[in-house]
Amino acid sequence: MNNTQESISGLIKRLDLDTAGNNSEMICDAVKKTLVEEVGREGFVLPEEFTRPGEQDYARRLLHKSANYCIVVMVWGVEQGTPIHDHDGSWCVECVSHGTIRVRSFDLVGNPEDEVVGFRQTDEICASRGMAGSLIPPFDYHMIDNPTEQISVTIHVYAEEMQGCHVFRKTGADDYQREWKTLSYTDDVVTG
Ligand SMILES: [Fe+2]
Repeated sequence: MNNTQESISGLIKRLDLDTAGNNSEMICDAVKKTLVEEVGREGFVLPEEFTRPGEQDYARRLLHKSANYCIVVMVWGVEQGTPIHDHDGSWCVECVSHGTIRVRSFDLVGNPEDEVVGFRQTDEICASRGMAGSLIPPFDYHMIDNPTEQISVTIHVYAEEMQGCHVFRKTGADDYQREWKTLSYTDDVVTG
């Protein structure tokens, strides 16, 4: 086994155990610990084809999928990022594997069912390799961007493969319009 295969199989072996229960909070704590230890470890390396930036937008590729979770790798070019979004009810743990990423977290202001809502920023962090954060609905509104001049890579573990999520576009000083965004993968690099 080469370094890449060892890195991925070691990660999957641990995540299989971490996600066996059904308490989201406990799963997220275990997944977070695994990501910090495995991804932060010297020698951890992702397959090269998963670390290429996308041309138009950040790249998004499925690394692994099982009954209890899936792993998506994202590559963030300079100034690439997301609007405020949720994860459509799925828990998620995100970890930086290369470079630096900025994560801003928000509380929704108003009725979550409304088409136009407000947000109050609650946190902002710049995370580097081996740093991870978990998001459990309903406290999962956030946006991610790459504030540096280099490419950044993040690993996201979700409860299930997301078909889409809600994004919130700024339409006024305090107003954000809810939209449904269908999610797809950047190219056909798909494993099992
Ligand atoms: Fe996210």
